[in-house]
Amino acid sequence: MPQASIYDQVLDPASRANPYPLYAELRKTPVAREDDGTYVVSTYHEIAALLHDPRVSSDPRNYPGMADAAAAAEEGPPGLPLDFIRRDPPGHDQLRALAMRPFGPPCTPGRIDSLRPWLTEIATGLIDKLAGKHRVDVVEDYAYPLPVTAICKLLGVPPEDRPHFRVWADALIETADPTTGTFEERTRRRNRINAELGQYLNGLADAHARHPGDDLISGLLTDTGPHAPMSRGDLLATANLLLVAGHETTVNLITNGMLTLLRHPDVLRRLNREPGLIVTLVEELLRYEPPVHILPSRATLADIHVADTTIPAGSPLVLVLAAGNRDPARFPDPDRFNPDRTDNQHLGFGSGIHICFGAPLARTEAQVALPELARRLVNPRLAADPSPYRPNPVLRGPRHLQVEYDTVAPAAERGRAASPTVST
Ligand code: HEM
Repeated sequence: MPQASIYDQVLDPASRANPYPLYAELRKTPVAREDDGTYVVSTYHEIAALLHDPRVSSDPRNYPGMADAAAAAEEGPPGLPLDFIRRDPPGHDQLRALAMRPFGPPCTPGRIDSLRPWLTEIATGLIDKLAGKHRVDVVEDYAYPLPVTAICKLLGVPPEDRPHFRVWADALIETADPTTGTFEERTRRRNRINAELGQYLNGLADAHARHPGDDLISGLLTDTGPHAPMSRGDLLATANLLLVAGHETTVNLITNGMLTLLRHPDVLRRLNREPGLIVTLVEELLRYEPPVHILPSRATLADIHVADTTIPAGSPLVLVLAAGNRDPARFPDPDRFNPDRTDNQHLGFGSGIHICFGAPLARTEAQVALPELARRLVNPRLAADPSPYRPNPVLRGPRHLQVEYDTVAPAAERGRAASPTVST
């Protein structure tokens, strides 16, 4: 029987709790060719170079064998156009620029930062519910509700519809997991779910067109700037993308953050004394325990020479961001969690033209959520270590994180709004 490659071992769910020794093995061959012709890249500088290389495509129509998948897409219910994470320039750049206008600087400065008090209020409310208990599942009871509430508020999704989003987002995220089927099968599944979600979002866009509000969908519909407005199909694809991209990633950042703090109690105590530490701490988390471990679906458009290897045109390319983040050639003492690290240009949000669009929101959510929980749980400790992980090797994170504590400390005054109920 042929021996499993290191990358095959990375994909194996048994490796999920601690893939880092395998990443160290991977880095010994910075650009490794798998038997099926896929090139796996695991060192920082090589990944960064490829993320900035215009000869690398994110468009699935350039993925080897995708002629079949494109046909598959047409068999199903009418889907949405490709969202901008799966497009190359110039289409990518134009859609991203349009989407950015209602989302943040320079056109809407303060949009994300102004969410801080509201996010604090949501976090405070979730922690208040833990009073009188001695155990919390950080994933279910804390990390999960916060990002979905935030992205739905930004998009203008009414609170009563939010539970549906979890079901759609979970199903879509699973389609990014290469262990759940071939690229073609996963594309087919993704198109089917997209069609359902697209139908819902279309109704929502109609409602916002009739009564525009202070939300992103209304902003996109009423934009009168250059290249605006976005077509209805692109608008639906963008809303769908924001929902999915901003969901489990942020859940994992908050969960990994609490896990890492509990494994480093000295840092947890320091955070309680020095709340300002949270800024560099979150960056270090994005390096040390990133929510996105792998970018699995790129392809080369030309021969590319990197690290003494020529990757032929038309090859599937896998970029192991989490291995790059622990590359000793870039980060001194890379396996140490060091919240004081300043030279920290990690790959947690990717790099190049597709660098995370939602990074300001993700950072703000983690900067609010972690100090609140760390401060208010008295004597917190992990009920199990390691916790059970979800099998997905791409978006890696614990399925549950059970934490025990003695009591819940009272909320700080600043977390209390004048009104006892939070408008979500
Ligand atoms: C901790 C949380 C997050 C992490 C770790 C993360 C990570 C990433 C990474 C690695 C990429 C690059 C993908 C690629 O190059 O193919 C990316 C792109 C993207 N992210 Fe995030 N993300 C997070 C949160 C968010 C949030 C909250 C949103 C939405 C509000 C969001 C929206 C996007 C979008 C739209 C893209 C595509 C950008 C483009 O193609 O130009 N992300 N993210």
